[in-house]
Amino acid sequence: MSELAVEVENLKGHYKGTFGEVFALDGVSFTVETGEIVGIAGESGCGKSTLAELITGFPMPLLHHIGGTIKVYGYSIYDISKEQLRKEVSCKILSYVPQYSLESLVPIKRIRDFLLEVMRERTGRIIAKEDRAKILESTFNHFRSLGLDPEILSKYPHELSGGMRQRVAIAISTLWNPALLIADEPTSALDVTSQRLLIEMLYNLKEMQKTKTILFISHDIPTLLQLCTRCIVMYAGGIVEDGPMDDIIQSPLHPYTKGLISSIVAFNPDGTRESALVSIPGKPPDLRTNLVGCRFHPRCPHRMPICEVEFPPFFNPQGKKHPVRCWLFK
Ligand SMILES: Nc1ncnc2c1ncn2[C@@H]1O[C@H](COP(=O)(O)OP(=O)(O)OP(=O)(O)O)[C@@H](O)[C@H]1O
Ligand code: SF4
Ligand SMILES: [Mg+2]
Repeated sequence: MSELAVEVENLKGHYKGTFGEVFALDGVSFTVETGEIVGIAGESGCGKSTLAELITGFPMPLLHHIGGTIKVYGYSIYDISKEQLRKEVSCKILSYVPQYSLESLVPIKRIRDFLLEVMRERTGRIIAKEDRAKILESTFNHFRSLGLDPEILSKYPHELSGGMRQRVAIAISTLWNPALLIADEPTSALDVTSQRLLIEMLYNLKEMQKTKTILFISHDIPTLLQLCTRCIVMYAGGIVEDGPMDDIIQSPLHPYTKGLISSIVAFNPDGTRESALVSIPGKPPDLRTNLVGCRFHPRCPHRMPICEVEFPPFFNPQGKKHPVRCWLFK
C-alpha cells in the first residue's frame, strides 16, 4: 500500500480583520499519495493559496485555522507544537515556495548570505564558520545537479532574471530533500521559456528523488498539464472535482471545470485558433457572506431548483473514474 503524503479532512480557514470575516476555505478534504504530482486549479480567489498556507502550519497573518485536520507524512500539523513543526517538519518533510516568492530573496544580500540566513532561521542558531563551508559545498553540488550555475551563489538577486530567481528560490527550498514540495504559482510571472525551465526543474527534482511528492498550484490549466498527473479543481473555497489530469482535460464533469477547460485556447500548428475562447459568465460569490446551495449556481447553465437550496455532496458517477460535487450526478 502506498504511503500517504497529505491527508486533509474537513479543513476550514477564515481571514479575520477590520474587513470582517472571509470564509476562505470551507470543508476541504482530500488525500495525496507519495509520488503524486497534484495540480490545484481554479480562478483567482478560490482558496488555492489559503489551502497551501494552512498546510504549512504557519499561515499568514489574519488567516486562521478554524477546524479540520491536516496530516503531512503522519505529522498532524495543528496538533504538534510549533517548535516540533519548525524542527522536524518545515524544510525536511515539507517545503513551501509561496506565491510571489520571486521577491523573497533579500535584495541587499548575495544568494549565499541569504541561504545562510535561511539556515540560521531554520536551526535557530548562528552557523559556525566551519559549518558554513560544508553548507556552501553541498549547496554548490545541489545547484549543479539541478543545472544551475553555482556561481549564482555569489550574485545579488537583481543580477538574476525573474525566471532564474524563481529557480533559485526552489533550489534553496529543496536543499533538505523535503518529502513534500508545495509550489504556489511558481510560473505565473514568467515568460514561456522560463516557465518551461522551471517545470523541467520540478520534474527533475522528483526524478532525482530530491522530493517525493509535489503540490503544484496554478490558475493556468495548460501549465498544470505539463507536469501533473492529477488535478484538484477548486471553486469559492471548496473542491468541486478531483481526478486524473487526462480525465479532467478530456472529460470534465463539473460545469465549472467544463467552463475552465473551454477557456483554454487551442491553436493549430500554423498558429490559427482551433477553438474559440469561451469565458465563464459572472463572477465568484463574495466569501464574506453565508452561501446557500451550490456555490456555482448563479453562474451555472445547468442550474436546477435543488442547486439553489442544497449544497451538493460528492457523487461518484457510474462509469467515471473520479468524484464530482454536483447534483447532475446524483
Ligand atoms: N490577507 C487577506 N485578507 C482577507 N481576505 C483574504 C486575504 N487573502 C486572501 N483573502 C481572500 O480569501 C479568499 C481566497 O484567497 P486565496 O488567495 O487563497 O485565493 P487564490 O485561489 O490563491 O487566488 P489567486 O489565484 O489570485 O492567487 C479570497 O476571497 C480572497 O479575497
Ligand atoms: S450542483 Fe447545480 S448549480 Fe451546481 S454545478 Fe451542478 S448543476 Fe450547476
Ligand atoms: Mg494564490
